[in-house]
Formats: sequence, C-alpha cells, structure tokens
Amino acid sequence: MHAILLNTHNLLRWVVLALGVLALLKAYQGISGDRPYADARRTGLFFTAALHTQLLLGLVLFVTSPFIKTAMSDMKATMGDAATRVFVAEHPTVMVIAVVLMTIGGIVAKNAANDAARHRKALVFIAITMVMILWGIPWQRPLFPGMG
Ligand code: HEM
Repeated sequence: MHAILLNTHNLLRWVVLALGVLALLKAYQGISGDRPYADARRTGLFFTAALHTQLLLGLVLFVTSPFIKTAMSDMKATMGDAATRVFVAEHPTVMVIAVVLMTIGGIVAKNAANDAARHRKALVFIAITMVMILWGIPWQRPLFPGMG
C-alpha cells in the first residue's frame, strides 16, 4: 500500500510540474497578448487540483509511511540528520505553504479588476508557487518509480 501511494506521489510530481509550466505560459501569453482570462483560468484550476491531490497524498503518506514512523520515533536524531529531516520538516512545510499560496492566488487573480490584471496576478502567484515546489521536491529520490 505504501509503495502504491509513494509511486503515485512520485509520478504526480510530473503532472504538477507540467501543469504549472502550462499555467505560467498561459498567464504570460495573457499579459502580452490581450487574451481573455477564461482559458488561462482553466489551466490554473487544473494545476491547483493537481496540487490539492498531491497535498492529500502527501498527508496520507505522512501519517502512514513506515519511513516517517521510524523518523518520528527519534525526533532528536531525525532533526540532526538533514537527509531524514527533509521529509519530516522541510518538504511537508514548504509544499503545504506552496499549495495554500496557489489556492489563494487563484482567488486573488479571479477577483482582480480586469483580465490583464488577472493574468498578471496569476503569473506572480504561479511563479512563486513553482519556485517553492521546485525547491521542495526531494530530487535525491528516484525521478520515476522503480528508478535508482
Ligand atoms: C506539490 C506538492 C508535492 C510534491 C511535488 C511532492 C513530491 C514528492 C516526491 C517526488 C517524493 C519522493 C517520492 C519517492 O521517493 O518516490 C515525495 C516524498 C514524500 N512526500 Fe511529497 N510532495 C508534495 C507534497 C507533499 C506534502 C504536502 C506532504 C505532507 C504533508 C508530503 C509528504 C511526503 C512524504 C512523507 C514523502 C516520503 C514518504 C516516504 O518515503 O515514505 N509531500 N514527495
């Protein structure tokens, strides 16, 4: 069960990143090309939905993972070991903040005065969210399930 969850969490990272890049492109095109917001908003919503799914999977992993259970059983040692601490502290924290930020960003962009402002605000929120996600992904783990 843990392997299925972890592999899904691993793969969904690529869906999140692809949708994030697409959402960034649409927001950028929107600013420079005077395009209506509706299409970019749809892509932004798919990106947010993928993030919410990843958040849910991450939370389930956090409470069920044998690796996290072992790490939590000796927090003193875990906090002193960067390789383990990243999964108990940094990774979940950065990712939760990124997901909340993108969720708020979608609302802020939607409520802006006009489509140009909506694209601009969306671009800023998506860009910050993407930087946080890229920073928060544990790249030391396999790039795809079963690798490494
Ligand atoms: C956009 C959000 C996220 C992305 C892109 C992401 C990505 C990843 C990746 C690529 C891995 C390594 C998978 C592997 O080793 O095959 C991982 C592991 C993990 N993630 Fe996330 N994650 C996200 C959010 C979260 C959140 C919000 C939590 C917890 C609240 C979380 C908890 C974990 C845990 C506990 C592991 C390690 C589990 C284990 O080794 O047993 N993740 N994550």
